[in-house]
Amino acid sequence: MQLIHPESVLQTERLVLEPIKQRHATLLYPILQDSRIYQYIPQEPPASVEMLEQRYQKLERRLSPVGDEAWLNWAVCLKLTGQYVGRVEASVLPNRNAYLAYVFGFQFWGNGYATEASQRILQLLFDDYGVTEVKSEVDTRNEASVRLLERLGFEQVEYRAAGDFFKGSPSDEYIYRKVVAIQSVEQQPNTALEPNNER
Ligand SMILES: CC(C)(COP(=O)(O)OP(=O)(O)OC[C@H]1O[C@@H](n2cnc3c(N)ncnc32)[C@H](O)[C@@H]1OP(=O)(O)O)[C@@H](O)C(=O)NCCC(=O)NCCS
Repeated sequence: MQLIHPESVLQTERLVLEPIKQRHATLLYPILQDSRIYQYIPQEPPASVEMLEQRYQKLERRLSPVGDEAWLNWAVCLKLTGQYVGRVEASVLPNRNAYLAYVFGFQFWGNGYATEASQRILQLLFDDYGVTEVKSEVDTRNEASVRLLERLGFEQVEYRAAGDFFKGSPSDEYIYRKVVAIQSVEQQPNTALEPNNER
């Protein structure tokens, strides 16, 4: 998989999205401790800063171990204060389909930050990577995530009873999907952009 400007910092109205690096572990660790974040996802709070550092260091490669998928992760911080509020991840498969996931600190929910960050990532997936559809898997009880996906224009395309199992019980899942808007020839994916550190 050819990465497109993998080190570019992205901007939105209120947010800065930095490609994740080892150094983000100390910045994100405190906001990732709240157990309410993990109610409907298999993960648990990171056990230590060191473990999170190891994980983020591996993600600096921005590729799957085999190299055929782009594994893109951004640390999201507030422009105004520099406070780190969450992380967004996108995986791009060789067939140009992608998966989107996100986790934000509990105290920052309800401000539209996840919407704003995800919209920018979707734009990057469609415009830079030529992605044709993005999917997201969500536990049916995860109302905040369902609302977010629908706000982003995703549609529910599948229901999987007991699609996963974690924390001692089955997880029924919705699969949500967003497909690329039909583009004119002039708006085809641009893979010949000049390097740019702030887009
Ligand atoms: C999923 C998750 C990121 C959603 O966070 P969120 O704060 O609800 O989402 P947003 O940041 O887009 O905020 C939307 C909410 O803020 C409100 N809001 C306030 N200002 C807003 C603005 N400027 N723009 C958009 N929404 C705004 C919206 O009304 C909405 O509230 P509502 O859901 O009560 O209707 C969060 O719940 C989370 O991190 N969960 C744990 C991890 C997880 O479950 N991940 C998903 C796995 S599938």
